[in-house]
Amino acid sequence: MTDATRPTDAELVDAARAALADAYVPYSEYRVGAALLTGDGEVYTGCNIENANYSNSLHAEEVAIADAVKHGHDTFERIAVSSGVRDGVTPCGMCRQTLAEFCDDDLVVLCDEGEEWAEYTLGELLPNTISLDTLDAAERAGEGPD
Ligand code: THU
Ligand code: ZN
Repeated sequence: MTDATRPTDAELVDAARAALADAYVPYSEYRVGAALLTGDGEVYTGCNIENANYSNSLHAEEVAIADAVKHGHDTFERIAVSSGVRDGVTPCGMCRQTLAEFCDDDLVVLCDEGEEWAEYTLGELLPNTISLDTLDAAERAGEGPD
């Protein structure tokens, strides 16, 4: 996809806003939407889906990334996140780690603040992440200190 047909940041934030309409949030009543731009210019969206067993609740970013990966994508450029109150919500720690499985430190994270959005990189939000490389290095090093 060329830059001309790639969504702008404003369009990606709008996609996250639209996605939060589908949120299922009977417990927190806090709607979150996410829109993830793949390396080849497609947009996958997600919303939070809560559960009476609170820890089973799915976060908007997880739902978006699961849909994208299920459709064969494994490179991502940007993600926009929005809440119903446009409070600049950032992906939680768990979602940062989930993103880090597929995205480099330079993934751009757009957080909807209403009129505008804040821009971060994943590396800023989650430095020194654990990764497949971490586990490979540990295996190469053997069992570790004794
Ligand atoms: N939530 C997300 O969907 N994404 C985040 O990264 C932050 C939190 C959801 C989980 C829960 O349904 C609600 O927001 C309140 O925490
Ligand atoms: Zn999260």
